[in-house]
Amino acid sequence: MQQITLDTSKVKGFIGFIPEKQFADRAKAAESANLALENGTGKGNDFLGWLHLPSSITETTLDEIQKTADYLREQCEVVVIIGIGGSYLGAKAVIEALSGSFDGLSNRKPLIVYAGHQIGEDYLYELSEFLNEKSFGIINISKSGTTIEPALAFRLLRKRLENAIGIEEARKRIVAITDEKKGALRKLATQEGYKIFVIPDDVGGRFSVLTPVGLLPIAVAGIDIRQLVAGAVEMEKATGTNVPFAENPAARYAVVRNELYKQGKKIEILADFNPKLRYVAEWWKQLYGESEGKENRGIFPASVDFTTDLHSMGQWIQDGERSIFETVLSVAQSRHTVEIPKDEADLDGLNYLAGRRVDYVNKMAELGTQQAHVDGGVPNIRIEIPELNEFYIGQLLYFFERACGISGYLLGVNPFDQPGVEAYKKNMFALLGKP
Ligand code: PA5
Repeated sequence: MQQITLDTSKVKGFIGFIPEKQFADRAKAAESANLALENGTGKGNDFLGWLHLPSSITETTLDEIQKTADYLREQCEVVVIIGIGGSYLGAKAVIEALSGSFDGLSNRKPLIVYAGHQIGEDYLYELSEFLNEKSFGIINISKSGTTIEPALAFRLLRKRLENAIGIEEARKRIVAITDEKKGALRKLATQEGYKIFVIPDDVGGRFSVLTPVGLLPIAVAGIDIRQLVAGAVEMEKATGTNVPFAENPAARYAVVRNELYKQGKKIEILADFNPKLRYVAEWWKQLYGESEGKENRGIFPASVDFTTDLHSMGQWIQDGERSIFETVLSVAQSRHTVEIPKDEADLDGLNYLAGRRVDYVNKMAELGTQQAHVDGGVPNIRIEIPELNEFYIGQLLYFFERACGISGYLLGVNPFDQPGVEAYKKNMFALLGKP
């Protein structure tokens, strides 16, 4: 079975002067970090439920998720996914990566829309208007059950649905994904008799894409969750503690980015050459930003879409402060073929490309960009995804999760907490006069 691959050869010039012995020490440190994850001996060890999630998901759970997804697909023209942060980005990342670019504008059913991921009043008004006369369902995702953004959106949309089809019918079209025992959403969902899926206690939001948090919305979008999980299982094996450092992509990625960080490369830019991966980058930013940015440490994760952003951020990346490195997501095979046609007049001067595929041009743009950026002092890590499908996206998600755990331990932080996100909430609730 093919795998996503990691190429760090374009980093050597930047960290290559590390003596052999020192690099062997780094490899050993990564292996120890991976072992600490496995044995639960590192920081945040009560949040390691994600580690063997792919290989431990049962057929019964997958069946139950699929059954609920099929029901919503049959009943609804539109399904609203309510959630924020880790309760939203994983599903959005996979759905965007694997859906048609114009599915949202076509008549494909059900249409997936999102709410509760910000507090825009206009957005909620417009969503409510959009849902007029449409049969819709709601998947409400909140581990704590008290996050204000999804709670507000749910209160509004629940009323909207109840008014449209009545309380009894509405109950059948609302699914809650929340804590097993505690929280406001758990209480409400139990009382109303909604279908409930559980977010395991030992899985934090940003590591929850392979729980019902991600899998249910992804299945509702018509994406094969079994293949997604199969890909993740493959990567779970490929990054296990029995895999030597040189063959373990997660350990290698973790070491390389930490070495670059030590050399002053404080910003990692995840660059995709396929716009469908934009939300994978958003998910990745949360995963790494929230896991590593603490105790006044941590690489700042940023992202760009290429070639689009070569026409904007390209200047900064090529010539700005040399505090960055780049991790490129490259898809080896497009799913579709578009050949460049010959044009008799050739007024646009593109006939030299006639007969070539558009993807060939994209690949040459990628190669040219890599050469230019490396020459310009930007170390380049390249992740190649054989094709955009469920299996490889599953691999990619788990690869980043495992590497994040190892990387956080190498940095010396607890990658599984997020004490910093409480500060704004405290102020906001005080300003709002929360009792
Ligand atoms: O990763 C995290 O822990 C956060 O991003 C949470 O997922 C996010 O704040 C939403 O929290 P909750 O699911 O409790 O509503």
